[in-house]
Amino acid sequence: FEVTWDAEEAEKGGYEHFMLKEIHEQPRVIRDTLKGRISHQGDKVILDEINLTPQQIKGIKKIIVTACGTAYHAGLVGKYIIEQLVRIPVEVDIASEFRYRDPIVDKDTLVVVVSQSGETADTLAALREARRRGARVVAITNVIASSVAREADDIIYTWAGPEISVASTKAYTTQLVALYLLALYLAQERNTLAAGNITEILNELKAIYTKAQEVLDNEQPIKEFAEKYHQAEDTFFIGRGLDYAVALEGSLKLKEISYIHAEAYAAGELKHGTLALIVENIPVIALATQKSLFEKMVSNIKEVKARDASVIALAMEGHTEVEKVADQVIYIPKTHQVLAPILTVIPLQLLAYYMSVCRGCDVDKPRNLAKSVTVE
Ligand code: AGP
Repeated sequence: FEVTWDAEEAEKGGYEHFMLKEIHEQPRVIRDTLKGRISHQGDKVILDEINLTPQQIKGIKKIIVTACGTAYHAGLVGKYIIEQLVRIPVEVDIASEFRYRDPIVDKDTLVVVVSQSGETADTLAALREARRRGARVVAITNVIASSVAREADDIIYTWAGPEISVASTKAYTTQLVALYLLALYLAQERNTLAAGNITEILNELKAIYTKAQEVLDNEQPIKEFAEKYHQAEDTFFIGRGLDYAVALEGSLKLKEISYIHAEAYAAGELKHGTLALIVENIPVIALATQKSLFEKMVSNIKEVKARDASVIALAMEGHTEVEKVADQVIYIPKTHQVLAPILTVIPLQLLAYYMSVCRGCDVDKPRNLAKSVTVE
């Protein structure tokens, strides 16, 4: 018999869905997005595509990151890291909100527009609104010569390659890489970070693709969790700090391809209302990778366990204390705190994928959704 692969099968490279293929492409495309952007000595970020003069960089008083959906969630991670590394105030705006809220933007505002397709109507309109108000605009996009790329002042391309699946995965992790590079570039140009710290983070960033591969190699426990809980009606994702930003992305992934209602919550907010929804056996995904917030997260896990929730915790290797409180723990390889989101999101992408497959959903083309929302 002959194997008759049609074009689409060939494009999937042997994976059942484009989404799984794109999840597994992440180690390579993370590396591709870093290529040429870290000095040989490993101590400097090279972003020749940014044409800001040293004076303009020193003159930045505020940064606004604006995007939609998954790109917006990448922007939230960007806020935490730029504020930590560069000490400039960062606002993150959903683009459809930014464009209508008469935003406070002027020549000292740097606006960062994030868009995989570079054609999202609200994001493009936000870019135009920011320029109209005198801001300089940097675009982070995955499509060369897209509308966003053409209209921005500067472009940092993600080299994720074509992303076919409606649910964005490799675009998100390469957007994070671009945001790390931008944050470190601004930190080095404004001297807000000791050279040693920049080198330390860059060394980790260069190696992170191997750790992403380690996470992908350990997908079995996630498959089993999906088989166990794919009939759930509701799920909660909780986290603090960077983990809260990743929890939002994890809940969007699950919603959009498995149609399970999923809510992401700042763990500290549970007692202000949402705890009323935590009942027996409800799946709660607790992200606890941030060392400085780990103890707080352990007590939040106890809080939901006291209501008999089923908790799968994500923690960094070595934080075994979490095994005493969670039903199941997925460890991510040790890395620098600020870089954790690149690794933490992968189990969440896989969880959404396997939940969707168990429910017989159309993984790559979920109902009601389009890959690029080019209309308002
Ligand atoms: C994410 O999985 C969705 N496909 C959607 O939220 C997407 O991130 C959003 O529409 C933004 O698209 P863009 O990055 O192409 O602008």
